[in-house]
Formats: sequence, structure tokens, C-alpha cells
Amino acid sequence: MAFQDNFLWGSASAAYQIEGGASLDGKGPSIWDTYSRIPGNTFKNTTGEVAIDFYHKFEEDIELMKEMGLNAYRFSVSWPRVMADGRTVNPKGVEFYHKVIDKLIEAGVEPILTVYHWDLPQALQDEYAGWESREIIKDFTAFCELLYKEYGNKVKYWVTLNEQNIFTGLGYVQKLHPPKVSDYQRFINANHIASLANASAIKLFRDMGIEGQVGPSFAYGPTYAKSEKPEDVIAMENAQEVENFLWMDVYAKGEYPRIGLKLLENLGIHVDFQPGDKALLKAGVCDFMGLNYYQSATFIDPQQKQDNVQAGNAAQVSVVSEVKDIPTDKLYARADNDYLKMTDWNWAIDPNGLRVSLRRITSRYGVPILISENGLGAFDTLTEDGKVHDDYRINFLKQHVEAIEAAIDDGCEVLGYCTWSFQDLFSWLNGYAKRYGFVYVDRDEENEKELKRYKKDSFYWYQKVIESNGKEL
Ligand code: BG6
Repeated sequence: MAFQDNFLWGSASAAYQIEGGASLDGKGPSIWDTYSRIPGNTFKNTTGEVAIDFYHKFEEDIELMKEMGLNAYRFSVSWPRVMADGRTVNPKGVEFYHKVIDKLIEAGVEPILTVYHWDLPQALQDEYAGWESREIIKDFTAFCELLYKEYGNKVKYWVTLNEQNIFTGLGYVQKLHPPKVSDYQRFINANHIASLANASAIKLFRDMGIEGQVGPSFAYGPTYAKSEKPEDVIAMENAQEVENFLWMDVYAKGEYPRIGLKLLENLGIHVDFQPGDKALLKAGVCDFMGLNYYQSATFIDPQQKQDNVQAGNAAQVSVVSEVKDIPTDKLYARADNDYLKMTDWNWAIDPNGLRVSLRRITSRYGVPILISENGLGAFDTLTEDGKVHDDYRINFLKQHVEAIEAAIDDGCEVLGYCTWSFQDLFSWLNGYAKRYGFVYVDRDEENEKELKRYKKDSFYWYQKVIESNGKEL
């Protein structure tokens, strides 16, 4: 009886990955429109220009959600669709999300709205370098104000920033996302500004008296030590401070971790605190922690760094980072986990890691958790009779649902579970090769075809899970 009656059995997506309609009805360009059009930046130069055309097909997709019995859908609002230049309201864009939200509610699906899932208006990047300028705090807060005013009486769950650690890590360290640089100090600067913007958005939510809950989604995987060797344990703890607490403490406690900050200072990296910053962070703590869980990470004493960390075949089916040296290499090194199998994209498959994540977040912060993403990216095959037999996905999700059940039994408060994703969608660096959905979308990198939707075997499996509130797995 682990899952409470109002447990949200959901699924998630992001605007740029599904909508298409990149320049329709007054939408302005985002940094991803620009970035993906530059050859070499994405797998086979794929873009979200059309994506899976949710912009025109949202009714059909929401009908499928209704048929499945899905009771929550997490989607994001494209900032340049509702404010083409990042500031001027585009009524047609605003109207689009009203239609999506109304249709979801009519279908009995709780909307979970993500404010920012990486598609910054290009205009703001051009004007002041986006997340690297404090100017963005005001603009982001004004964007939030528009959304709260428009949708605040319809939407009860709000996710502010999606995976701040990932969009900044890939953008400012790994050179895999815009603005494609590798500079750790700039990465920390952009993060501090994004954290302030996040706090400002949450503060405004409360000031406006919006009824509902708000929090960011963080890409978290628990850190493991490669061995019981104390040096490995210190490496693991270093990674935990610098890769996890540095964000989650700010979100849930409104302050940076003391050790994490000092570890960075020892490397010559500083957070640029200005008067008023600390008070703002305190005023904008989250109601829940959004947890995007895909895998755990294992760490080893950097002196014992392995050269042969499993490569998998990811390089053939995605764009991978070529950045070699980063300042934190002195604190920890990544290692293989001999006990875990990997996906085709070399991600560790670790359902127990989800239980560990839920427990660690609960012990350190005591806040409720919304699992805002979890899923398996895999190659799928559409059979001639229009089926996809994705038993590997069912198996993956089943084990993760069992892990959540165990964590609830351990004492964690879990609001819901959003799988990634409902439909197959555009994967930032993997085109359409890496599929996550319950619904197969027939297109590939070269050919959009008719974008027909097919229900995979996992669609019917999740339908039963929802119907039985997690009893039938
Ligand atoms: C998360 C993002 O990092 O993981 C999603 O929030 C993304 O937008 C998902 O698609 C899966 O990543 P990938 O690279 O396999 O598509």
C-alpha cells in the first residue's frame, strides 16, 4: 500500500524536444534554434524545427494520455514562444499553452508546468550573454509573472528550472550545449545567477499567493565510492559536495554548502556574492525537490584515475565531449561500477540508486520529492504490424517503481513519478535514435515522414500500473 491515493503517475517532456513550429505564430528564436542549426553541434545535425510537431498534434497526444489514464503530464513553456524577444508578450504563444492546459484538464491529466527547459530567447543571449548577466533575474521573474498570472489558477505544480546543473555543465564546461565554452569560473558565475533567478521566481510565486507547489528539477544521481579505501570515500564526498550539494542545498536550505564552497575556493573558483544575494536565496527555498534520476555515479581517488572507464557505443550515436581537463579533476575521478550494467548510451542502470537518491534527499532536506524524470533511452524497432516490443523498457521502469515503493516504505515523501517520456522526442545530442517514450513517433533524423504515433508495449504496461495505483507491475 505504498502509493498514496493521489500519487501522480505522470510522464514528462520539454518544449524544444516536442513542439516544432520553431518560427510559427510569432515565436522568436531560442538559443537552441540557433545552436542546432550550426553543423556539427547535434547528432546528424538534427534540430527541433519540427520535432514531433506537438504544436499541431497536441490534441491527438493528449487523447492518447487520456486513453492510457495518465494522471499528470509535465511539459515546458517555450519562453520565446510566449515572449519572442524575452520581454514582449506574444498573445498567440500564451494562447497555445492555455489550449494545452485546458485539454489536459479536460482529459483528467494534472498539468505540471516547467518554466524553463533550456530554450532561452536568443535575444537575451545576444543582448547580455543570458545566464551570465544579472539582468536575466529581472527578465526571468517577469516571464514567471506572466505565466503565474495566465495559468496560476489552472496549474498546481510548477517546476522552475530544469536541471540547472546540466544545462550549465554542458554549456559552460563540456562544450556540448550553447554557449559551448569550457570555463569553470564562468560556469559557477552562471549558476549563481541562475540560482538567484530561481529563488526570485519562487519568492514571486509566494508573493502572488499562487495556490500550488513550486520547486526546481535537479539532475541527481547518488555518488558511490569505488571501494572502501578511505581515499575513494573522500573522492566520493568531494563529488557529492561539488556536483550535488552545491545546488540542492541552495534550493532546499537557501544557502551554499560550507565544504563545497571551500573546495572550490581551494581551486581558485569563487562565487560572486553581492549584497542581498544571501537573503534572496533564503526567501526562495523550494516546496519540493524535483528529482530527475537516470543513473548513479561512482568515484575514485583522482590519483588512481582509470583510463578505461567504459566507453559503450555512445560516440557512434551521439555527440560527446572532448573537454579533457577541468579543475575538479583534482578532487575526484569517475570510475566504472563493476556491479552495474550499462545502457546502449553507457548510462549505468541502477534502480537501487533511485532509492538511495530519495533517501539521501529526505535525510538532508526533509522535503517532499517529485520524481520529475526517469526513463530508459534505447533503440526501438517498429514492426511491420505497427508494434514496438519494448520489454527492456518495461523491465527498467518496473524496477524503478519498485525502488520508489521501497523508498516510500523507508519514510520518503514522494509526490509522483514522471517517466521520461510520454512520446518519443528529440534528444538534444542523440537525434531520434535514442527513444524514451510509451508512444513511438515514426520519424528519424533524415525523414520526418508523417510523424504517426504507435503505442508501444510499455504503453499498456504503464496503463495497468496507473489503474492499479502501482500494485500491478
Ligand atoms: C534530461 C533532460 O537531462 O535527460 C531531458 O531534462 C533529456 O531534456 C533527458 O532529454 C534524456 O537525455 P538524453 O540526452 O538521453 O536525451
